[in-house]
Amino acid sequence: MTPSDRELAGRVAVVTGAGAGIGVGIALALADAGAAVAVADIDEAGAASTASRIVDAGGQAMAVRADVGDSAQVEAMVRTTVEALGGVDILVNNAGIATTELVEDLAEAQWRRVLDVNLTGPFLCARAVLPHMRAKGWGRIVNVASVAAKRISFTAAASYTASKAGLLGFTRHLAYEVAPYGINVNAICPGPTLTPMYERNADEQTRRERIAMVPKGRWITPADHGRVVVFLCSAGADALCGLAVDVDGGSLLGWMPWAHYMTKRKRK
Ligand SMILES: NC(=O)c1ccc[n+]([C@@H]2O[C@H](COP(=O)([O-])OP(=O)(O)OC[C@H]3O[C@@H](n4cnc5c(N)ncnc54)[C@H](O)[C@@H]3O)[C@@H](O)[C@H]2O)c1
Repeated sequence: MTPSDRELAGRVAVVTGAGAGIGVGIALALADAGAAVAVADIDEAGAASTASRIVDAGGQAMAVRADVGDSAQVEAMVRTTVEALGGVDILVNNAGIATTELVEDLAEAQWRRVLDVNLTGPFLCARAVLPHMRAKGWGRIVNVASVAAKRISFTAAASYTASKAGLLGFTRHLAYEVAPYGINVNAICPGPTLTPMYERNADEQTRRERIAMVPKGRWITPADHGRVVVFLCSAGADALCGLAVDVDGGSLLGWMPWAHYMTKRKRK
């Protein structure tokens, strides 16, 4: 396959929070599918490292420092990307944060910051890229929510659960608004993925208990998420609009450890 035959050749993608964890897997996968990638992160060194990995592998990428919770920085991120790479066709709202307090101990500033980054951030980024997508009559927005959006978070605070549930509402509403312009908006709901965030928030015991709840019996990887995001941006996903795709190894299917489920049943 020549570079121009690849599914996303000629497309420009912005991936937020792509300096570490899941965002790295998504940025690498989009680049592998032929897209030029603006690697955005509040952590400049992390963004630069992901962009270098893409360029070293023969792809096109640039690093942009931006805090997605700050509208001026988001506008600047999109301007820089359009000037350097010629447009924005794909936006992946991946940047997210989590804290772990109980509601009674949660400071208002902590609640607001999580909502700012996880929910207002995707709104600000989408608002900034939509005129560029509408002008081309083509666009793809993928919001990285969480399985916590559909139940609760086992490792993060109520602010996190609320922000991710809100993000699914935003996904559906925006998908409806912009579908006629050739812009598809969908979400993925990652299950447990060993990233710096997960390692910060879950000790060894929590990790063992959590993985026991995943029927596939393994951690989800950033590369798993990358492949699904590429699919959501591909021609094959053109009819998908406002969906929340669980990339979770089946962990939302049940509420008890799989091994415990099996002890209640005899295999013939
Ligand atoms: N790891 C999991 O198990 C898991 C599960 C469900 C959902 N998610 C979601 O996936 C996304 C990525 O999570 P992760 O585990 O890779 O996290 P991570 O903390 O490992 O990496 C997140 C990246 O986002 C960047 N970031 C943080 N705040 C930012 C801001 N304001 N502006 C720009 N960049 C910012 C960080 O610098 C970091 O590079 C998040 O939205 C998270 O909620 C993760």
